[in-house]
Amino acid sequence: MTVVYSLKNVVKERLTDGVGFRLVVPYVQIRAQEHIALIGHSGCGKSTLLDMLALILHPDESDQFSLHPIDGESHDINWMWQRRRQGHLSQIRKHHIGYVLQSGGLLPYLTVRENIELPRQLLKLPEDDSINSISRVLGIHRQLDKLPGLLSAGERQRVAFARALSHRPSILIADEPTAALDPITAQKIMAVVMELIKGLKITLITASHDWAHVYKMELRTLKQEAGPVDNGKVYQSRFSD
Ligand SMILES: Nc1ncnc2c1ncn2[C@@H]1O[C@H](COP(=O)(O)OP(=O)(O)OP(=O)(O)O)[C@@H](O)[C@H]1O
Ligand SMILES: [Mg+2]
Repeated sequence: MTVVYSLKNVVKERLTDGVGFRLVVPYVQIRAQEHIALIGHSGCGKSTLLDMLALILHPDESDQFSLHPIDGESHDINWMWQRRRQGHLSQIRKHHIGYVLQSGGLLPYLTVRENIELPRQLLKLPEDDSINSISRVLGIHRQLDKLPGLLSAGERQRVAFARALSHRPSILIADEPTAALDPITAQKIMAVVMELIKGLKITLITASHDWAHVYKMELRTLKQEAGPVDNGKVYQSRFSD
């Protein structure tokens, strides 16, 4: 299978109130249609790495960061960040990546249908039956005219998945998408989402601190390990297979 992401010595550093955090990815390759989970405790850098994979956050250092979202398209992301090609990066993101944020991230003043339509409108895709069909699969077709605030937490997360998938991206990134739900609801939603992404041949990258759940779903894991702490000030976190 094609290599979708190829990362080598990618580093992101953050400093808050004098406490440093350093995320290091020595070498990771993600292939088309793989299902990956980033595993690690709170604060170890899962969201930071997902933001970099979503092309939202730029790495501070990188020997290689390339993305091959579909056949015939290959992008040197490293080069684009260095040249500050934000517009180009955002185009790639809009076309090929769907992102379910840790907080859900639905716009509260738009209806469910409008939220789901948004990524398609940004790409000027034609109106068709795709919103209705994905909503039926995810069991939210009766909620389309409501505002997100009137939905249950589980329904809101299903809407977040529908929105992330409505423009048919080749990559779905989901940051702890079911962490706020009870285990049974979480399992049910992920079962539907897994069926959907297998059918659509989508590459999935998710994050979780729930080991048991991830193993049950049979995902390939990228595990976090703590590295040395420099001068007692910088906490280093590494992700690898
Ligand atoms: N915008 C930011 N500016 C500075 N530091 C940040 C920022 N966002 C996160 N950090 C720091 O980076 C580190 C990693 O945070 P991150 O959100 O990636 O962790 P996480 O593994 O996703 O945690 P959680 O499981 O709680 O979501 C933490 O020490 C955090 O304080
Ligand atoms: Mg997080």
